[in-house]
Amino acid sequence: MGHAPREGFDNPIIEWVDSRLPIFTMMQKEYGVFPTPRNFNWFWNFGAIAMFMLITMIVTGIVLAMHYTADTKLAFDSVERITRDVNGGWLLRNLHMNGASFFFIAVYIHMFRGIYYGSYKGPRELLWILGVVIFLLMMATAFIGYVLPWGQMSLWGATVITNLFSAIPFVGEQYIMPLLLGGFSIDNATLTRFFALHYLLPFVIFAVVFLHIWALHVTGSNNPLGIEPKGPQDTLPFHPYYTMKDFFGMIIFMILYAWFVFYAPDALGHPDNYIPANPLVTPPHIVPEWYFLPFYAILRAITFNFNLFMLAGLGLLAVFMVEFIWRYKPKYLSGAQGILLLVAGSGLAVFGLLADFNQTWAIPMTASTDVPISAKFGGVLAMFGSIGLLVVLPWLDSHPIRSARFRPLFRIAVLVFTLSVFILGYAGSQPSDKVYLSTCLGDAQACEAIEHGNADHIEAGHEPTVLALDNTMVAQAFTALYFSFFLIILPLLSRFEKGRELPTSIHEAVLAKKQKAGA
Ligand code: HEM
Repeated sequence: MGHAPREGFDNPIIEWVDSRLPIFTMMQKEYGVFPTPRNFNWFWNFGAIAMFMLITMIVTGIVLAMHYTADTKLAFDSVERITRDVNGGWLLRNLHMNGASFFFIAVYIHMFRGIYYGSYKGPRELLWILGVVIFLLMMATAFIGYVLPWGQMSLWGATVITNLFSAIPFVGEQYIMPLLLGGFSIDNATLTRFFALHYLLPFVIFAVVFLHIWALHVTGSNNPLGIEPKGPQDTLPFHPYYTMKDFFGMIIFMILYAWFVFYAPDALGHPDNYIPANPLVTPPHIVPEWYFLPFYAILRAITFNFNLFMLAGLGLLAVFMVEFIWRYKPKYLSGAQGILLLVAGSGLAVFGLLADFNQTWAIPMTASTDVPISAKFGGVLAMFGSIGLLVVLPWLDSHPIRSARFRPLFRIAVLVFTLSVFILGYAGSQPSDKVYLSTCLGDAQACEAIEHGNADHIEAGHEPTVLALDNTMVAQAFTALYFSFFLIILPLLSRFEKGRELPTSIHEAVLAKKQKAGA
């Protein structure tokens, strides 16, 4: 088999290996002299940090697995034993438990960087999509890992989430659920298959990370300016410049991680998971781990069925979006037809929504038993859709400028989007019926009775109207904002945002910044 010409190594052992399997030549090319933009900021540390966390999780996980017992009768106690009796077991468990959180922190910052600096745009679309695949795999791994200690949240979290699959029409209840659970409820068969998958998936993630970095080394890295390097004056060799910078960033991150591991190991977890799983006692408020909260809020935000009126309305709105928002110029319809579509689509959708809430109208095809998409299945679709949108992001944002530094409106949009993800996270952590603001309109005495929880004493015909802003409404508003960012704001900005003038090259921009700082 032929191979590319290589330069020899001075060390005879390295040379012996490399002349037979040019692995050192490859490392030298990809991690030694690899030309890397000279203007990376600290955001570019998080890929390496995520890699470090992945390895930490695999190593600590393998040792934990040597002491863990995947049996519903023994799992909880085996984890307690690891923490109390196994030498260094407490450290291993704290590293693994908090490692999951820190892995997600690193990856969320890494994803934010990708969005803010437009790293998902051509030619890096596949690199980005492989990232989304990694993210999905991470979510699956973390979810099933949380079941293993067999505490109350393990059992009930898993019950809520696996139950979602029963909403899938035709196949959910009959085929997918039994396959997922290994029976009709979460039990020993579920625990053993979750353990097997929790051991397997990190290696699958590792393989996809390999492809992710391979794709990165084909296109080269993006950078804070979002312009491509034009020559050697715009780049630095990866080693020693970025090996050192990555190493430094990793140490800072590790200090923070170690602080949690040693001083607050349970701060990010839920206390109920220290109660052994009990199928007869449901915890009052089931919440997933913090890194799932925004998606959990989106899942719970869909409290209405999608009846035929709503689907027809949404269908018309989708045609409007394709014609007037996603395309540069409408292809098939005139402006007047567009307005008609918009009015008819929104009218039908709102009518369908009202009909779902007000079942006393008894309009055909709106009863929850015969709607095509139930609220539960709608929630599942919205939750997976919110991640699916990341896959098509490179095509929703087709603006020629990558970095938010040169797109003031895009920058505001990304920051508002990020804020809405945080608010969704908060909403996900609170009970659905939590009321933030409320006002009572009507009879003062009746209002007072409601305030004191004596609603039963209100005379018939004197019931006041209570307007309340509850957690579900907050989740719904910010879910709408989340989807609008991708489906409406980004396509519109791609079309209308002017953007600022780009620098001619990376090194000129770097020198100008240095001169300004020195002046
Ligand atoms: C196990 C998780 C992951 C690991 C170990 C990982 C690793 C890396 C590394 C080492 C880099 C190069 C250094 C850097 O740019 O920071 C990189 C770049 C990149 N990653 Fe990831 N990544 C992971 C997850 C993700 C996810 C979830 C996404 C997005 C959904 C993503 C999107 C990207 C993009 C777009 C780049 C190129 C950035 C640029 O050049 O500006 N990665 N990744």
